[in-house]
Amino acid sequence: MRTLITNIGELTTNEGPVLRDAAVLLEEGLISWVGGADEAPDADAIVDADGRAVIPGFVDSHSHLVFGGDRAAEFEARMAGQKYAAGGIRSTVAATRAATDDELRARLRGFIDEMHAQGTTTVEIKSGYGLDVETEERLVRLAAEVTPEVTFLGAHVVPVEYVDDPDGYVDLVIGSMLEACAPHAKWIDVFCETGAFTVEQSLRVLEAGTARGLVPRVHASQLGPGAGVLLAVELGAASIDHGTYLTDADIEALAGSDTVLTLLPGVEFSTRQPYPDARRLIDAGVTVALACDTNPGSSFTSSMAFCIAVAVRDMGMTPAEAIWAATAGGARALRRDDIGVIAPGRRADLVLLKAPTRIHLAYRPGVPLVERVWKDGVQVA
Ligand code: NIG
Ligand code: FE
Repeated sequence: MRTLITNIGELTTNEGPVLRDAAVLLEEGLISWVGGADEAPDADAIVDADGRAVIPGFVDSHSHLVFGGDRAAEFEARMAGQKYAAGGIRSTVAATRAATDDELRARLRGFIDEMHAQGTTTVEIKSGYGLDVETEERLVRLAAEVTPEVTFLGAHVVPVEYVDDPDGYVDLVIGSMLEACAPHAKWIDVFCETGAFTVEQSLRVLEAGTARGLVPRVHASQLGPGAGVLLAVELGAASIDHGTYLTDADIEALAGSDTVLTLLPGVEFSTRQPYPDARRLIDAGVTVALACDTNPGSSFTSSMAFCIAVAVRDMGMTPAEAIWAATAGGARALRRDDIGVIAPGRRADLVLLKAPTRIHLAYRPGVPLVERVWKDGVQVA
């Protein structure tokens, strides 16, 4: 089956400048041809883009989608002046432990549908709301049903039953919990922050995960500056995520490394923290990705378009940079070269926008501009 999307007014390939009056051929789940609409090959089915824009599917490289309950009341209190604290995670842990697999699965599938409808074709999903061996194993197993990008985040916070023995909890994470979760996961993550895990504890977690074949990615510098970024760069982590409070040394280390900095504007928005200066980071040579960090506490949006709009409005990114960061940048953060780019041989993950240019994603915030979405060549929205 060959599907041709033609009469594309503006095609963002992430390889060189945008193409005008373009066409893309989808075949067997892959892109098999890209070029001018007037030279397009024959196909079994034709989609007329009618002058609208096409971009690669969004690659959302940071989410926490398997959880029970929500924290709307906490959000309301925060908007009335209360400060965000990582301790809120524990209330989601209680709701998650109480939920059945079927309840968690139904919720998770609902989020995936919601993401597809908004143009996201790849999503990374973390555990971290179980914090005991049995529940963490359930979370990574359920996540693996919907994505290959599964992250074991047993070291999210120290659960209540271990408050007096955080090192004992780390022993559990790197022992039987890792043993149970590693078969379902690709990545190992830790929340390296005051109130969560120290640098020493984070190092133990990341080294144990690496020894089990997982690749590190790290939550760091979300609530204040810390040593997590330097640790992540030293260990060759694929990504450090958040980076709300970076030091000059962090920026220098990131710029000279292969570690991607994944910025999460939904978090600063929903916790009223300052937005990071993405302009300065990009100018310094840091590779920046954008992701939603969908979770019930710090960022309950699943809209990559919203993150793009904020990154352009408040973080100094151009629309082109923000869209690159939300597609090819996310792919880099997941060390994937088969997604995030529209070129022959790559996966046929694309979004047809209800707009003539990609700029509209930032220019028309809050407006649903996704017309059609293909993942692996199959229309999913
Ligand atoms: O990525 N930083 C830690 N973890 C989540 C927040 C989780 C929560 O508040 O439930 C995050 O922001
Ligand atoms: Fe997170």
